[in-house]
Amino acid sequence: MRPRIIFGRFLLRLGKFIQSLSVMVMRPDDLIEHMRNSYAEPKNVEVWSKNSLVDSGLHEDETIVLKKIPLKKGRLLLLGIGGGREAIPLGKMGFDITGVDFAPDLVKSAIQNTAQKGINIEGIIQNITELNVSENTYDIAWLSAGMYSCIPTRKKRIKMVKRVNASLKQDGYFACQYLWTPRHMFSLKVEFARKAFAFLTLGNMSYEKGDVMWDDSHFVHLFRSEEEIRSEFEEGGFEVVHIDFPEGEVRRWAVLRKPVPNTRKN
Ligand SMILES: C[S@@+](CC[C@H](N)C(=O)[O-])C[C@H]1O[C@@H](n2cnc3c(N)ncnc32)[C@H](O)[C@@H]1O
Repeated sequence: MRPRIIFGRFLLRLGKFIQSLSVMVMRPDDLIEHMRNSYAEPKNVEVWSKNSLVDSGLHEDETIVLKKIPLKKGRLLLLGIGGGREAIPLGKMGFDITGVDFAPDLVKSAIQNTAQKGINIEGIIQNITELNVSENTYDIAWLSAGMYSCIPTRKKRIKMVKRVNASLKQDGYFACQYLWTPRHMFSLKVEFARKAFAFLTLGNMSYEKGDVMWDDSHFVHLFRSEEEIRSEFEEGGFEVVHIDFPEGEVRRWAVLRKPVPNTRKN
């Protein structure tokens, strides 16, 4: 191969590596703030609020997962409501929706879009990692779009799971989507270089294997074993009713139940 092609390829790989270091420089709260700023940008508000998306209804996997929950009505806490795509069909089914989102214009847009279809929802502007809603109130909590993986650190994820748990009534359900890869993302050498970079920049010392920038605006933690994801849900106080690992799919669902006292397995 010609030396200039080899050099060009090296630069492309170097560029990708340098980009990947953004996750090592930003600490967990910076990563969340970075995502909030991106979603709040007018162009992204438009993406998640446009009619073609909002009117597209539930995705096939969402319909399947909903059928695994034995509740057909009640109060539903929709985490990361966006422009209201899921709120419309769920509201039409008879659920009473409270939508949470950290992008104020998306909350506004979800309220407007659902109102146009005759559905009244409650909108709350809040970061779901600091979820603060009424306790023992909701029958179902819903988190789609792989958003569980967008929460940096096991500690923050478990804290959120505990808060979701507290918001649910006994025997309430949490449908939660996360991202998965069985692959090892980086070699030991690259992993070491990334950690050294975090150390030298006083950056993200909470980095966990599987943490990557998905695109310019999204942090994601890719789960790599069933045990890893199950243990977070169980530590958060839930019983895992269903968890799926379809071949080749990156997005996966878990259906969790808040156990009634005395029935929880230890
Ligand atoms: C990928 S979009 C999905 C929107 C909607 N659920 C849908 O599928 O159409 C993710 C949504 O979650 C919100 N979001 C992301 N992280 C959040 C956080 N930490 N707290 C609150 N909202 C968050 C974003 O503002 C955005 O509206």
